[in-house]
Amino acid sequence: MLVAIEIVVSAVDKVTYHLLTDDQKKQLEEAQSIPFTESKFYQGIMNKFTRSKGIEQESDILLDHDYDGIRELDNVLPPWWVNLFYATIIFGLVYIVRFHVVNDYTQAEEFDQEVALANIEIEKNKAANPVEEVTVDKVTLLTDAESLAKGKEIFVNACAACHKADGGGVVGPNLTDEFWINGGGIKNVFKLIAEGSKNNPTMVGWAKTLGTKEVQKVSSYVISLQGTKPAGAKPAEGEKWVEEAAPKTDAPATAATDTTNVATTK
Ligand code: HEC
Repeated sequence: MLVAIEIVVSAVDKVTYHLLTDDQKKQLEEAQSIPFTESKFYQGIMNKFTRSKGIEQESDILLDHDYDGIRELDNVLPPWWVNLFYATIIFGLVYIVRFHVVNDYTQAEEFDQEVALANIEIEKNKAANPVEEVTVDKVTLLTDAESLAKGKEIFVNACAACHKADGGGVVGPNLTDEFWINGGGIKNVFKLIAEGSKNNPTMVGWAKTLGTKEVQKVSSYVISLQGTKPAGAKPAEGEKWVEEAAPKTDAPATAATDTTNVATTK
């Protein structure tokens, strides 16, 4: 586009140049031959700002002091500087009256106001885009490829340092076997990843950092690692987890009497 415009403009220039009279051509060449800093327009503006005298008029403002041949010019203060100075005085006066006499508002009040406004914005935003929180009671195991892929991404970024990218364990325990320190199954794993481990503070809670939805995805990914048996994995820690035969968990009595199950730690 720009190249096309450039071509058209230069073509128009050429045509109009041929339409000029000889006098006009001469004028144009003169105007184009002087540099911008010597143009009338530029010099007029500079003169307004500085009111400096040209070298030819220096004799008018030369003082009669003579210090070993060094002489002094009595230039006026440049208007741009003088006016700026007056502006600061006016600003200062208005400022003093407004903030030290009338006590309009303080910086602390200004800050509080902005925080209050920002909080309102946050509330509005939350109301407009409600985030469904996943809780321990509601959490379900996700098995779709998309969620598991996201879970894997989180795991590699945030967890692999302690659990190894394949879940085999380094600082943290092996997550690929059926032995769990804090109980297996989506509810226990979700709860532990969301809230952190009570018996080992190295494993912090991730709900605040990741959000509960992402914790659900990474929990599901962790469970999907079951039985992968990566090479060099850490030995089993904790107790063997057996998923309750009937997934109806709202009858705690059965869980307590069923000795093959590790009771869900709440
Ligand atoms: C700073 C190291 C560290 C990081 C990072 C870390 N963990 Fe852990 N994790 C541990 C330790 C240590 C334990 C053992 C806790 C205990 O003994 O209760 C653990 C335990 C666990 C357990 C329970 C294992 C069991 O047998 O009960 C799960 C599940 C788990 N981590 C998942 C994760 C996930 C998912 C992430 C990333 C979001 C993560 N961890 C990040 C150190 C870490």
